[in-house]
Amino acid sequence: MYDNNPTLEGLKTMDEARQGSVLFKEHWQTSDAPGLKRFYIESYGCQMNFSDSEIVASILNEVGYVPTRNMEQSDLILINTCSIREKAEETVRKRLRVFENIKKERPGTMVGILGCMAERLKKQWLEEEKLVDLVVGPDAYRDLPNLIGAAEDGNRMVNVILSREETYADISPVRLNTNGITAFISIMRGCDNMCSFCVVPFTRGRERSRDPFSVVAEAADLFAQNYREVTLLGQNVDSYKWENPDTGEKTDFADLLAMVAQVSPLLRVRFSTSHPKDMDDKVLHTMAQHHNICKYIHLPVQSGNSRVLELMNRTYDRAWYMNRIEAIRQIIPDCAVSSDIIAGFCTETEEEHQDTLSMIEWANYSMSYMFFYSERPGTLAARKYADDIPEEVKKRRLNEIIRLQTAVSLRHNQADIGKTFEVLIEGDSRKSDQDFAGRNSQNKMVVFPKREGLRPGDYAQVRIKDATSATLLGELV
Ligand code: 5AD
Ligand code: SF4
Repeated sequence: MYDNNPTLEGLKTMDEARQGSVLFKEHWQTSDAPGLKRFYIESYGCQMNFSDSEIVASILNEVGYVPTRNMEQSDLILINTCSIREKAEETVRKRLRVFENIKKERPGTMVGILGCMAERLKKQWLEEEKLVDLVVGPDAYRDLPNLIGAAEDGNRMVNVILSREETYADISPVRLNTNGITAFISIMRGCDNMCSFCVVPFTRGRERSRDPFSVVAEAADLFAQNYREVTLLGQNVDSYKWENPDTGEKTDFADLLAMVAQVSPLLRVRFSTSHPKDMDDKVLHTMAQHHNICKYIHLPVQSGNSRVLELMNRTYDRAWYMNRIEAIRQIIPDCAVSSDIIAGFCTETEEEHQDTLSMIEWANYSMSYMFFYSERPGTLAARKYADDIPEEVKKRRLNEIIRLQTAVSLRHNQADIGKTFEVLIEGDSRKSDQDFAGRNSQNKMVVFPKREGLRPGDYAQVRIKDATSATLLGELV
């Protein structure tokens, strides 16, 4: 899932690694069937955005739209956008130019913008540049059939209203571009944290949690379809909370994890993303109690320095974060931890940057997603602080971070040589169809030679013989 090529922009993130991937479900009705319209969708950004595209596909399917890989032959081109960094927005702009040309060649093709860029750029794209026919924000996808209908009549349509309630709980996502083994389940939407660098609270609105029974039902349904791993998604899963309106009974994230883990011992459960301020010991004990809850926590630190963390409004300091890592080590000794790191945040000094480096070393992250700071319009930081670290300095600091993390990842992986792991086989390895690839509980990609009788979706015991900074290489035992 992750592509660990260090670049100046940072290691490719789960979002960027998947950028530009075209979502398509193989066994849908063919798009040549008469009377059906075709849509083409590209998704950018985080896993949540990819998960949203599966909800969009389900809503479109209901009104007779089928997906196509071929944008030239589609009636509707959709792009699900991300605003997290400037670069993500630039990529979308380039794609819009390509779609504009298709529209010229095939008048009548509609183009729609979905997702996080919708609110901010609706005026410019819809009214000024007239690049698109539809602009639909992340909480307005149920309105797509109406908006498409009106756009077919030649109107330019927009709905970017954010909701306090929408969780799409009742919509059964159409799994797109799937390996048939692993799937994502959104358990909450929005974010109330207000980290000063982050645009998400503005693009995705207030935090709301989904009914836990609908989450469990979705997991059970996936298991029945032979999926073997679900990842529970939210901007801050540790603040998941739900109260049963009939009984008043409360469900927190640890409760939800346990409920999903009980669907089947053969169904692995992962989750992302955890927030250091909210990740409590109850979650860690629940992880320790269930073999099928994977021993892996993505716990973004962002900076290793307490003053910078304060400016970032992360609401924890270095000592608090270290205490959380120590709790993980004590309660789940075999747990891997990964991080998100931002280099060159406003006013960051060289000494403060060194604190981030020493945190990477101390926390012993299995891997990190690393970025340099990119000011986002409307955020707290954009309003309050000057973006005063020169670009060369940001990039140099980021490179130092990447270099250190790559070395720490290699060390982390080499420490696994000689160990045996349970690996969920996801499919052929990227390099050879003679090898399978899958993940261990710690979320490390493991590659090993195939054996007759084993298939994707099976669990295999694999002894590790060798390691790179990104992959473990092993053999079946
Ligand atoms: N600049 C750089 N990186 C950012 N992130 C979020 N906002 C910004 C920004 N303005 C990073 C954070 C977050 C991850 C998803 O993206 O590290 O955890
Ligand atoms: Fe996901 Fe944030 Fe990008 Fe929106 S802005 S797609 S929530 S990463």
